[in-house]
This record gives sequence, C-alpha cells and structure tokens, in this order.
Amino acid sequence: MQILGIDIGGSGVKGAPVDTARGELAGERFRVPTPRPATVESVVEAVAEVAAQFDGYERVGVTFPGVVVDGVTRTAANIDRSWIDAPAAKLFGERLGKPVTVLNDADAAGAAEVAFGAGRDQSGLIMMVTLGTGIGTALFLDGVLIPNTELGHLEIDGRDAELLASDRIRESEELSWEKWAPRVERYLRHVEMLLAPRLFIIGGGVSKKSEKFFPLLDLRTPIVAATLLNNAGIIGAAAGARQAAAGPGPQDPGAIQVDAAAQGDLA
Ligand code: BGC
Repeated sequence: MQILGIDIGGSGVKGAPVDTARGELAGERFRVPTPRPATVESVVEAVAEVAAQFDGYERVGVTFPGVVVDGVTRTAANIDRSWIDAPAAKLFGERLGKPVTVLNDADAAGAAEVAFGAGRDQSGLIMMVTLGTGIGTALFLDGVLIPNTELGHLEIDGRDAELLASDRIRESEELSWEKWAPRVERYLRHVEMLLAPRLFIIGGGVSKKSEKFFPLLDLRTPIVAATLLNNAGIIGAAAGARQAAAGPGPQDPGAIQVDAAAQGDLA
C-alpha cells in the first residue's frame, strides 16, 4: 500500500511517499514553508499543496505539533489557537479525498526511531525528546507508544521547560553550546528523576549537531541522537496511517505499534 507521510513543522510542511515496511522514503520530499499565522485553514491548504505533488497513494499520515486524540487536535502551544479542538483528521481527509491519520509530531518521530532508527531492538522504557521550536516527548514501553505525553511542558525552576531548553530558545537567545547544554541537562535530569528511562533519543534539527552538546551533558541515562533525522516525522506519520489501515490485531513485521487512541482515522 502506498502511503504518504506529511510532517507539519515549525518552519516547513514536508511530505514524501514512504515505504512503511522498510522505514524509508519511497520518493523525493516536497516542502512548503509553514504558513503564518498557521491557522487551520492555511495549514490544511499547505498540506494539500504538498499532497498534490504526489499520486498513487491510498492513505495519508500527518503529524501535528500538539495533542491529538481521535483525530481531534487538543492543544496548540506553537501553532495558531484555531487548532484547539479542530477535527483535524476529518478536515485533512475531506480536503485530500483520502483517509487521513493524524498523530502528535514527537510520537510520530519517536515511533519511527523505535521501529527503524536509534531505538531499534531496545526494550524497556525509551524516551524520545525532540528539541526544536518546542520540546516534544514520546514514551515507549517495549516498543509500544504511550501517546500524547507532553513532558516538554514540565515546569523547571518556575518556567515551562520548552521556554528554557528548546532549540528555538538556543537560537533566539543566541546561546553558545556551553550556555545551552546545562539547560538541556537540567531538563533531562528532571525527566530521569521522574521516569528513569533506559534511553533518551534526541531528535529535532539540532540532533544533527549532537557532537556539539552531548559531550557537555552529565546524565545517568544513555543518550543517542535520532538517526532518521529530518525524515522521522514523515516516516512515523505514514507508519501510523498504515497501522490505522491494518486495524487492531497482530501487525506485519515492521509495522509500528502506535496506540489507536492517538489516531484519528477517517476511513
Ligand atoms: C507541544 C507538543 C509537541 C512539541 C514539539 C510542544 O509545544 O505541546 O505537542 O510535540 O511542542 O512540536
């Protein structure tokens, strides 16, 4: 089955057909800038513009930078407030004329990393942390996603953690690696105190530069950079759509175990 994955990010809306059995893109990516303001209407159009570059796909998976329950977007920390309680899966599905599954961006990226990337073959509790415009988190227990964790908003020293340690803050406050890394460490230490994960997988664009800040972090938990880089969201979105198509029950090898509650499936 041909599935299109689309990732709604802080700066770009990116899509590509995905080989969900191998966890790889099956064609070139296409990207448009994320509209500003990123209202429901403008983002649905941007997603449609990306989808229009491709044909032959049967289903679509879309990531969203907020909580998604049963295809309805529930929060909007870094996107226009019109997304709060928007029936996203239905809106995308009607616009694209195809069944659409919507899932949280960090959940999608984490699912891809756990199935095909840095978290492959790891058991126990694994935590994906994306450091980007915000801080996204995804938790997996023995490969199964616990959807919609919002641990990027934990309060650290009286502040929302993503306003302290996201990559956007590093850039906007022009922090050196030496200034930013202790903030990331402070955040991850708090998380390890609360959850004691077996492994942190760090994603987001900055994970490409992990050699600049990983050596500055003093943590108990092993930490690795995401390996699917920019494509994790696209791959995870498509894998979520494929799983929604398969329905509950045993999955094919390579299928991602994404809790059905995270998905809004417009069949
Ligand atoms: C949102 C999360 C999202 C993360 C990364 C946070 O502000 O609340 O849902 O995963 O940003 O985009």
